Amino acid sequence: MKATFIGGGNMGSAIVGALIARGERAGDLRIVEPSQAQRERLRERVPGVALHAGIDTNALADSDIVVLAVKPQQIAQACRELASHLVTSQVVLSIAAGVRCADLSRWLDGHPQIVRAMPNTPALVGAGISVLYAAGDTRNGARIAEDVLRACGETLWCDREADLDAVTAVSGSGPAYVFYFLEALEQAAIELGLSRIARRLAYATFEGSIRLARESSESPATLRANVTSKGGTTARALETMGAADMRTHFIDAVKAAAARATELGDAFGKE
Ligand SMILES: NC(=O)c1ccc[n+]([C@@H]2O[C@H](COP(=O)([O-])OP(=O)(O)OC[C@H]3O[C@@H](n4cnc5c(N)ncnc54)[C@H](OP(=O)(O)O)[C@@H]3O)[C@@H](O)[C@H]2O)c1
Repeated sequence: MKATFIGGGNMGSAIVGALIARGERAGDLRIVEPSQAQRERLRERVPGVALHAGIDTNALADSDIVVLAVKPQQIAQACRELASHLVTSQVVLSIAAGVRCADLSRWLDGHPQIVRAMPNTPALVGAGISVLYAAGDTRNGARIAEDVLRACGETLWCDREADLDAVTAVSGSGPAYVFYFLEALEQAAIELGLSRIARRLAYATFEGSIRLARESSESPATLRANVTSKGGTTARALETMGAADMRTHFIDAVKAAAARATELGDAFGKE
């Protein structure tokens, strides 16, 4: 598979790194990255990948897929630069949060093969999850796009584009929520006098609990009940969380993120 990445920042370089780690040939991959300092970093990080300072026919020739990995604010401009160099058989995969297929298609002069996806940052270590959505009938394009993102972890599909706003709120922004709770558990351990081992305790508790949940046939609610004896320590902590209505606040926070994704989609579409 030959691929061109537009944007070699965090996500673009993570996906290229994952493709190489999976065994794709570096010579089949190209990155368009305007920042010279970033191109120098990429030269070290992904040796053998062709690096281009701008979008031109050379950067795209023979590529089966063009991955848009620029910030949402930069995507309209990048698409306009891309439009005249694309050929119909090339699939365009956008990983930009909020930016809709209809807008991408408009900026790309009606290009027929467009797939959107929402990956997340654990892609950096091959443990991401990406949800994809294909506009129209682009079966071959969908297969190639999924093949790219499989290098970064799990892939799932949704059949309504609007669901990607919810996905953005849940798994796209999700790593930040996990880090927030990790920080809080570490902070609690420090305040309880365990500074030396606080971070290790927090990481191992999250890792072990996720593994237990994945390997168990029980739901998270049952697993929680299993470690909560009446009148015990866990029960006291959960009562404290319940009194602060933490669950409702957390759910509201995720819903607010989804609403923000929709708002951003509306704003980007005005370009
Ligand atoms: N990070 C996440 O958690 C996450 C998760 C899921 C999806 N995403 C999506 O992934 C996309 C990329 O995010 P990121 O964190 O990787 O951003 P980033 O680190 O800022 O990378 C974007 C890169 O693209 C370059 N660029 C800008 N305009 C360009 C153009 N016209 N042609 C080629 N390259 C251009 C930028 O250069 P300059 O710095 O010089 O502008 C920058 O190096 C975003 O749309 C985001 O919504 C991110």
